Amino acid sequence: MQVNGKNYETIWMKDQMVRMIEQNLLPYEFKIFTARNYKETCFAIKSMIVRGAGAIGAAAGFAMAQAAMEADARNYMTYLKIARKDIESTRPTARNLFAATEKVYNAALEGKDAALNAAHEIAEKDKMDSLNIGKLGNGLIKDGYRIETHCNAGWLAFVDHGTALSPIYMARDSGKKIFVYVDETRPRGQGAKLTAWELLNEEIPHAIIPDNAGAHLMSKGLIDMVIVGADRIALNGDVANKIGTLEKAIAAKYYNIPFYVAAPISTFDFNCLTGKEIIIEERVEEEVLYQKGIDANGHMTEILVAAPNAKAINPAFDVTPAGLITGIITEKAIIKATNQEIMGLKD
Ligand code: MRU
Repeated sequence: MQVNGKNYETIWMKDQMVRMIEQNLLPYEFKIFTARNYKETCFAIKSMIVRGAGAIGAAAGFAMAQAAMEADARNYMTYLKIARKDIESTRPTARNLFAATEKVYNAALEGKDAALNAAHEIAEKDKMDSLNIGKLGNGLIKDGYRIETHCNAGWLAFVDHGTALSPIYMARDSGKKIFVYVDETRPRGQGAKLTAWELLNEEIPHAIIPDNAGAHLMSKGLIDMVIVGADRIALNGDVANKIGTLEKAIAAKYYNIPFYVAAPISTFDFNCLTGKEIIIEERVEEEVLYQKGIDANGHMTEILVAAPNAKAINPAFDVTPAGLITGIITEKAIIKATNQEIMGLKD
């Protein structure tokens, strides 16, 4: 996608270096972070320099390939195993990360070039999948639709195009007038900061709404559909996504508003029977108690937004039961959130 008139992807690898947009600085500063080895790529995933299921999948694949390149012949296997463990312990919820380490690790057993090729294939496929999700999802959007989205499942959450936002970009490109309600997505503000930044760049009409405003807008008939992304989808159609998704789905069901999940097949966990098995990342309480932004002088700053010494809990994801989901937009087809239709996606 375009940033200041130049085409960018969220993450890419060249000459063993993994480069990515520094998402912790957005929307205030646009900077590229370079990870010179697999440990630095792990750091980038853990510290959320790169975030979003598809983007961390690509990052994990690149990290695994970096490890293969770094390893010397005498301890190749030991190095690969340790690296895989390190990469897989960065963040637990997004399925794409584990799918990527598995694929590149297996390729690395054949050699360094195979590992590198596998990592690039993951990133390329992520882009194509996002585009196809956009094409299929666009078919669901009618001219004049007002769409609510949660968190950031735009191009910054993938290598390019995104999932929940990809149909929105395509709808705009095909001449439909649309309006996007962007949940701010406390505590890290991926909606207010990242989705709003993407939509501003693309000149798509939108408004950031407080996280607790969605049901109210739905009750007033102001929302025609909801599209969200996913971090992991269980075999029965339960969907783990950014915390707060479940509340939107419950409200949408109550008001009879279509609630769609957009996700590539790499987000489906065919070994996970129901959402109960999905590990939900718990993040530090400081993310809830403090907020980051810029001050009047444009300097990045952090302030306490809670009672001093108050405690907080910070689950990063929730699980939306399949029964609340109208459909899942994948790169192959729009399916129902059922075991049977999900099994049909398997190669
Ligand atoms: O914690 P994040 O920002 O990595 O969250 C993941 C997500 O991007 C969202 O849950 C998103 O809605 C899923 S689509 C990548």
